[in-house]
Amino acid sequence: MIQFTVLTLFPEMFAPLQESILKRAQEAGLVQIRLVNFRDYATSKHKNVDDVPYGGGAGMLLKPEPIFAAIRDLSHPIGKRRVILLSPQGQVFCQKKAKEWSTEEELVFICGHYEGFDERIRELADEEVSLGDYVLTGGEPAAMVMIDAVARLIPGVLGEDASSEEDSHSTSFLEYPQFTRPADFEGRQVPDILLSGHHAMIKRWRRKESLRRTFLRRPDLIEAVTFEADDYPLLEELVLDHPNIALWRAKWEHLCPQPKRRRRSSNKALVKVSVKKSEDL
Ligand SMILES: C[S@@+](CC[C@H](N)C(=O)[O-])C[C@H]1O[C@@H](n2cnc3c(N)ncnc32)[C@H](O)[C@@H]1O
Repeated sequence: MIQFTVLTLFPEMFAPLQESILKRAQEAGLVQIRLVNFRDYATSKHKNVDDVPYGGGAGMLLKPEPIFAAIRDLSHPIGKRRVILLSPQGQVFCQKKAKEWSTEEELVFICGHYEGFDERIRELADEEVSLGDYVLTGGEPAAMVMIDAVARLIPGVLGEDASSEEDSHSTSFLEYPQFTRPADFEGRQVPDILLSGHHAMIKRWRRKESLRRTFLRRPDLIEAVTFEADDYPLLEELVLDHPNIALWRAKWEHLCPQPKRRRRSSNKALVKVSVKKSEDL
């Protein structure tokens, strides 16, 4: 079970997490989502959570006291929870990060709003993470995206555990094209190989299409990938279809199968020589 705790001024925004797969995961006790309105921790008469920036400037900043108090009130001790500050200034969230977080007991998301945070709030966070290089009105949509991406990696959340393993970005490559019935939709045919029942050939086709997609759609991912020996013939076939792919050949040419050495015959020669020597003796 993983617990997600969200510090937010707008808990109602999280209603979408009560639908579909995440709803079932919570009902099954695999995932717990706790929404904490940190306005409840404000001590002023009017429950103020924001104030004007020192030095002037536009907008309001979240004050430190309510967020510090809310974090200090968390159930898991430090070390058993990971506190994430949502911010456009953080590291950009990715599948690797989702995988890393999926083994934590508790993930705590601090959602900013308005013009941002008092700088001292940053010290509460184990890390500062961004949804992407753009600015949202608040951290809530980012928290929802991250919770969704992490929760689906928790064993049992998806019906079949394996179904997240071949997803795009779970391997270093984008997922291959998928088809379901009908085999012929208004003249658009499912590739014959997928109807063949030949598992090894289907596996080969999927790997090749996965490589093709990654090269064509996300060449930026290729720099970081490691190809396997079985990829060599697939990659050479892809170069015939898309000559530009050859630009990356340095990443796989070491996988070129070596011509087999004639070791046996040279051994025989050695044996012959040694026999001859012993005869000479
Ligand atoms: C309008 S933004 C403040 C941006 C701030 N002035 C800055 O330039 O860094 C308000 C809040 O939305 C959240 N937010 C905005 N963009 C985000 C992003 N790309 N990823 C994660 N959270 C974001 C953060 O919690 C942020 O404090």
